[in-house]
Amino acid sequence: KKYGIPTAAYETFADAGEAAAYVRANRKYPLVVKADGLALGKGVLICEDEAAALAAVKSIMEDRQFGASGSRIVIEEFLTGPEVSVLSFTDGKTVVPMVSSMDHKRALDGDRGLNTGGMGTIAPNPYYTPQIAQVCMETIFKPTVAAMKAEGRPFKGCLYFGLMLTPDGPKVIEYNCRFGDPETQVVLPLLESDLLAVMQAATNGTLAQTEVKFSGQSAACVVLASGGYPQHYEKGKPITGLADGQLPGGGATVYHAGTALADNVLVTSGGRVLGVTAVADSLFDAVAAAYGAADQIGFEGLHRRSDIGQKALAAL
Ligand code: GLY
Repeated sequence: KKYGIPTAAYETFADAGEAAAYVRANRKYPLVVKADGLALGKGVLICEDEAAALAAVKSIMEDRQFGASGSRIVIEEFLTGPEVSVLSFTDGKTVVPMVSSMDHKRALDGDRGLNTGGMGTIAPNPYYTPQIAQVCMETIFKPTVAAMKAEGRPFKGCLYFGLMLTPDGPKVIEYNCRFGDPETQVVLPLLESDLLAVMQAATNGTLAQTEVKFSGQSAACVVLASGGYPQHYEKGKPITGLADGQLPGGGATVYHAGTALADNVLVTSGGRVLGVTAVADSLFDAVAAAYGAADQIGFEGLHRRSDIGQKALAAL
């Protein structure tokens, strides 16, 4: 807000009465009411009318539905549009975006079900055209890095921009000071430059003189999750179909997220268990190859989405 970087219109409140007054003055619905603290991704309520928004304020701030994270709330404009993840390298002065990607955050096909840490990704994101990339560079990426510097805390490393392409232009949904998961599983396989050299340039402040090159190919990652994730799930299920992390026949890479060895047997040990990534000349082929490889892997209760990449393919 201070630096005019486009994001949803919002206000923060520590007082339930002031929050309720803001809700009563609001004319635009849906309205988003969030606990202003860590709530395991659950502390966000999308309210269709004034009564629902007032109830949300009460349940978060007075009834403490999400615990202590509800001592402050954010009330925010509801944005619509395709989401894009853009990871970037920055040395505190120069910002170099990586190839764009698209996460699939909901647990079930068709973007239904609960929010998760990410059920799959594709890159590049077809909604992120060169024109939109240019707008994001001028209105979001450069102003963010300049703002961090102006605040006396220049950021060096990987800066994650979670964006929504709204009818009013691209807006920031979230920043993360890390790589994205499972975005990284499709972004880094497309990086042709030496990652270590790029990281050193980000550290040494020489990013402007460093080539950061991505291949023109596409990548898709399908996450294999434990049944029940993101709610209750069981662990310790033996995983079949993997040999040394590489699938027979090659062509796909399997990233371990929630696995363990029990008596030398590979077993599940988390909600998101594996990410299966394939790279190909077209997005269609990358998606087909990722699913082809994922089909070879099994464990009891395995849950995955069957439509990773479909929205992107339709957009293409
Ligand atoms: N995939 C979302 C994130 O890493 O935050």
